[in-house]
Amino acid sequence: MVKIAPSILSADFGILAEEIARVEAAGADQLHIDVMDGRFVPNISMGFPILDAIRKRTRLPLDLHLMIVEPEKYLPEFAARGADMLTVHVEACPHLQRTLVSIRELAARRGAPVKAGAALNPATHPSTLDYVTDDLDLVLVMSVNPGFGGQKLIPAVYPKIRQIRSLLGTRPIDVSIDGGVKVEHARPLVEHGASILVAGSAVFEAKDPAAVIKQMRSAAG
Ligand code: DX5
Ligand code: ZN
Repeated sequence: MVKIAPSILSADFGILAEEIARVEAAGADQLHIDVMDGRFVPNISMGFPILDAIRKRTRLPLDLHLMIVEPEKYLPEFAARGADMLTVHVEACPHLQRTLVSIRELAARRGAPVKAGAALNPATHPSTLDYVTDDLDLVLVMSVNPGFGGQKLIPAVYPKIRQIRSLLGTRPIDVSIDGGVKVEHARPLVEHGASILVAGSAVFEAKDPAAVIKQMRSAAG
């Protein structure tokens, strides 16, 4: 079944604890946390203190999307502070294979290895993953150019998801879609091979986030 990952970038940070409780009660499977450094992307979002605050308030798996240069410098600290999944951008990693291996060597909260993810910008070709398919737990396919919530999904993501699925073969690797995902996209995204849907504004700007999550799940089938 498809997993729904609300992106807290669209939450109201003044009442973050309530926002987390609201999406947890609404049936979120994991929380997506966007870390931006103002260098890899033209925006700055959140870092360690916010991660600590979130970790204290939920038992949901934390899926960290690192939109930062030199992510390898910070991986052990993200793991120590409670990340369950660490996703780095292929465009930011000259030694991607080494970085992915080093993520899996880190221990997450319950002693399980941290899951390793690779994210692809919209213009990045799936073939950048050709030689790391055995080092991945997750591929994060950007359906907008990263940096901001509330953008429109770029339809070129659909054939790209199929291409990625076929290069991953039968490996148990999640394919997560991030950017502009609304209820109406859930079905086609899953039909093309998505297994996780990240949704920021669609969930947090809804009056009834539980209804949105439910609709996404049932549309996905
Ligand atoms: C964009 C972020 C996304 C964003 C999604 O750079 O990586 O996770 O928060 O928000 P929506 O769903 O509003 O596009
Ligand atoms: Zn993201």
